[in-house]
Amino acid sequence: MKVIVADDYESMSERAFEIMKDEVVRNPNSVLGLATGTTPLGLYRLMVDDHKRNGTDYGSVKTVNLDEYMGLSSADRQSYARFMRENLFDGLNIARENTYIENGMASDAESECLRYNEILDGLNIDIQLLGLGSNGHIAFNEPGTQFGTETHVVKLADSTVKDNSRLFDSTESVPTHAFTMGIKNIMQAKKVLVLASGSNKAKAVYGAVRGEVTEELPASVLQLHPDCTLIADRAAAALL
Ligand code: F6R
Repeated sequence: MKVIVADDYESMSERAFEIMKDEVVRNPNSVLGLATGTTPLGLYRLMVDDHKRNGTDYGSVKTVNLDEYMGLSSADRQSYARFMRENLFDGLNIARENTYIENGMASDAESECLRYNEILDGLNIDIQLLGLGSNGHIAFNEPGTQFGTETHVVKLADSTVKDNSRLFDSTESVPTHAFTMGIKNIMQAKKVLVLASGSNKAKAVYGAVRGEVTEELPASVLQLHPDCTLIADRAAAALL
């Protein structure tokens, strides 16, 4: 794994932006695997600014997202579908039909997982962006998830519900379940780019980079990926 330590959140986002832009410019048909959450917001702002200023073309790019809360429609202000529209897609010339995310309202969860896996199998992700859970999760693959999993439904760990409650009115309103890409899907991406910012991620960063490869810390599997870059700011890299 290649590790880059950036001074702060802004410079982490800039380094990530250089990598993403390079990918899209080199291959206008790129398939980008994307994440939600606070960590990638700076990167997404830079992508939108760059598109406005320099016209970087997303007309043939496809995107596929990691996860979506179960029970939230794409119109819900807390859904990841809406997060992606508001924070990235609305600012780029990307065709909406080229952006994929699980359907949080699917009535048959099993068929939805199969449908999403088929999409992933057909797409071949060029670069997968990841944030890190403070408990070492990647996407919503919580500690204990088998490395061989594909898209599945997960019950969120209590620590994840607590971490994510900052974005909801109360802890009780955080959905308890989500659809998530599996670890196997993530490992199939040609490249993986992991971002981590803040001292609450320091343990997870250590585990991902230096810890034992174990299902108890899902991000540790990335040590086995042939082309993975992790960019951490100083606070997140403090234990390395
Ligand atoms: C988001 C996702 C999660 C987050 C992680 C970190 O799509 O899959 O794994 O990347 O929970 O979240 P933030 O960035 O909010 O700290």
